[in-house]
Amino acid sequence: MPDSGPRIHAVVNQKGGVAKTTTAVNLATALAATGRRSLLVDLDPQGNASTGLGVGPGLRRLGAWDLMLAGARLADVAVGTAIAGFDLVPSSERMFGAELELAGAASRETRLQEALRGAGRRYDYVLLDCPPSLGLLTVNALTAAGRVLVPLQTEFLALEGLVLLKQTVDAVRAALNPGLSYAGILLTMSDRRNRLSVEVEADVRGHPQFGRLVYDTVIPRNVRVSEAPSHGKPVIVYDMRASGSQAYIRFAGEFLRREEGAA
Ligand SMILES: Nc1ncnc2c1ncn2[C@@H]1O[C@H](COP(=O)(O)OP(=O)(O)OP(=O)(O)O)[C@@H](O)[C@H]1O
Ligand SMILES: [Mg+2]
Repeated sequence: MPDSGPRIHAVVNQKGGVAKTTTAVNLATALAATGRRSLLVDLDPQGNASTGLGVGPGLRRLGAWDLMLAGARLADVAVGTAIAGFDLVPSSERMFGAELELAGAASRETRLQEALRGAGRRYDYVLLDCPPSLGLLTVNALTAAGRVLVPLQTEFLALEGLVLLKQTVDAVRAALNPGLSYAGILLTMSDRRNRLSVEVEADVRGHPQFGRLVYDTVIPRNVRVSEAPSHGKPVIVYDMRASGSQAYIRFAGEFLRREEGAA
């Protein structure tokens, strides 16, 4: 790794259901498969990343809530997954109260940043799976992260959502985290037989500000991707040959070239 310390990426989009969790889970898996120690922090009270990795509600003892609101140490809340080199900080029921609890807490925007100090001793990459909002959990992620990874579904109003997200990223950069930059925008759940999907892709790629951020790899809509979480596995483990898996594997390669340069 050229830099010391982990590379922390916030996987963010305030729109629900655009494949934030799917992207975080599969990218972390692919990174681990290349020998990079990866950690996924499930910041979403829904706990989809935790469930999708086989850590259901009954198995979540300590997690992101304890890390941010009870002073727990990272080493005490991270659990292994079925994938070697890939650890998880689960979500938990208590996360449903976290937005409100953080609102009344001291240093409410920097809790996660503090908690992840020293993560570089154990991890090469940390992915922060955000809830579908721009509330304090997401602000904590943007403050702790070096880079923002934006999954974007190719649908109506996709660009409007990006403009709103950019305002939040700009505000966090100005007030809390001057080094924050974009990793990129990943087009997800694309259906190139659908004219709208094709048009939105062209609009985003042609956009003066966002176009250069868009990864070449596009994730297609693929039913195997939606089946995988109920088996407690990332799709690239559940069915590596599926079109969605192959796309996520290509994406991980492109992601690494952008993060680490040609290797
Ligand atoms: N490429 C794909 N093809 C088909 N289904 C997909 C694909 N990517 C994600 N899905 C499915 O779409 C749903 C939403 O995906 P996911 O949970 O990753 O989105 P999210 O942005 O994390 O949602 P939320 O905002 O609720 O956290 C899930 O059921 C997931 O399995
Ligand atoms: Mg999610």
